[in-house]
Amino acid sequence: FSAFLTDTFNRQHDYLRISVTERCNLRCLYCMPEEGVELSPPARLLTSPEIVYLSSLFVSQGVTKIRLTGGEPTVRKDIVSLMRDIGKLQRHGLRELCLTTNGISLHRKLDPMVEAGLTGVNLSLDTLDPFQFQIMTRRKGFEAVMKSIDRILELNEAGAGIKLKINCVVMRGMNDHEILPFVELGRDKPIEVRFIEYMPFGGNKWNQKKMFSYQEMLAMIQEKYPTLEKVTGHKNDTSKTYQIPGFKGRVGFITSMTHNFCGSCNRLRITGDGNLKVCLFGNAEVSLRDIIRKENDGQPIDEDAMNSLRLMETVHDAASIQNDRERELLDLIGMAVKHKK
Ligand code: GTP
Ligand code: 5AD
Ligand code: SF4
Repeated sequence: FSAFLTDTFNRQHDYLRISVTERCNLRCLYCMPEEGVELSPPARLLTSPEIVYLSSLFVSQGVTKIRLTGGEPTVRKDIVSLMRDIGKLQRHGLRELCLTTNGISLHRKLDPMVEAGLTGVNLSLDTLDPFQFQIMTRRKGFEAVMKSIDRILELNEAGAGIKLKINCVVMRGMNDHEILPFVELGRDKPIEVRFIEYMPFGGNKWNQKKMFSYQEMLAMIQEKYPTLEKVTGHKNDTSKTYQIPGFKGRVGFITSMTHNFCGSCNRLRITGDGNLKVCLFGNAEVSLRDIIRKENDGQPIDEDAMNSLRLMETVHDAASIQNDRERELLDLIGMAVKHKK
């Protein structure tokens, strides 16, 4: 495994999250203000060739899982072709290509995404009630999200093998009464529902009283389902996983507020504007974009220019560094990873 992606605690960073857009078609109460977030000037955002180039560089160093996030990744116009390009890295060591999405427009793009190599979907859904959906997301669209879920299940019945998880952020007084109905979803459907503790984020007026803790959720679920049992997860999971015997699905908890999971963190992130972030909560970011564009007078790099840099067809030897730019990128990445706390 690449020394560049190994930190001083010997954590091997084989999971890369890439934000492919800052925009979103919902305005979830816990995430964004009604007016949306301030967007970077388009010229500062990574182009698709740049995203593919960075993906291939990380895969050449040992990254085996890439998750595309946002904002809402499906609002990026060329998301399907971007996925198709990243999907080609599955021939070079990439094992999982995942998407975190709100599901609003996923059903329209899902089939070609699966063809492109999509292996997992984490779908954000906080309520099973269309009216409550509109309150929590400040937008309509519940039916579209359900359509996406149904299509994933349908494709899976035909053998697609897409790992589906639902992310449900629990806010007291808002959707805590829906915890049990969400658990019930797993009786007949092979879905993992993960309840997420509400976190302070982006000026969302978080307060302790609105947070519903893992302990409380667990007690509530155990009371109704006393046979609930813990499942041993993978070592880098952010969630604690449980199952109810006889149910097709599982239940998970992301306990960001009450138990951190930093010790086993294997993630790196790239922001929409091309910064590498080694920790969700850390402020330190280094610009990979600036290095890629250095020899191009700071201009975004297009398909043609990127072809000369592209590793896509050549990433079989993890140790080989192909040019000065790559060396510079890897040195910077290595330095950021080494400084991870
Ligand atoms: P998988 O493990 O691949 O299923 O993905 P994930 O759970 O990391 O990704 P997802 O995008 O579904 O995020 C789910 C929740 O995990 C969100 O609420 C994030 O805020 C939280 N999360 C994601 N990455 C990190 C991280 O590095 N640290 C912490 N503390 N929370 C994270
Ligand atoms: N607290 C907890 N989870 C959040 N998410 C977004 N904002 C918050 C918050 N303040 C979740 C989304 C999505 C995942 C990537 O992060 O619901 O499922
Ligand atoms: Fe959009 Fe996800 Fe934020 Fe909701 S939580 S506003 S779907 S980015």
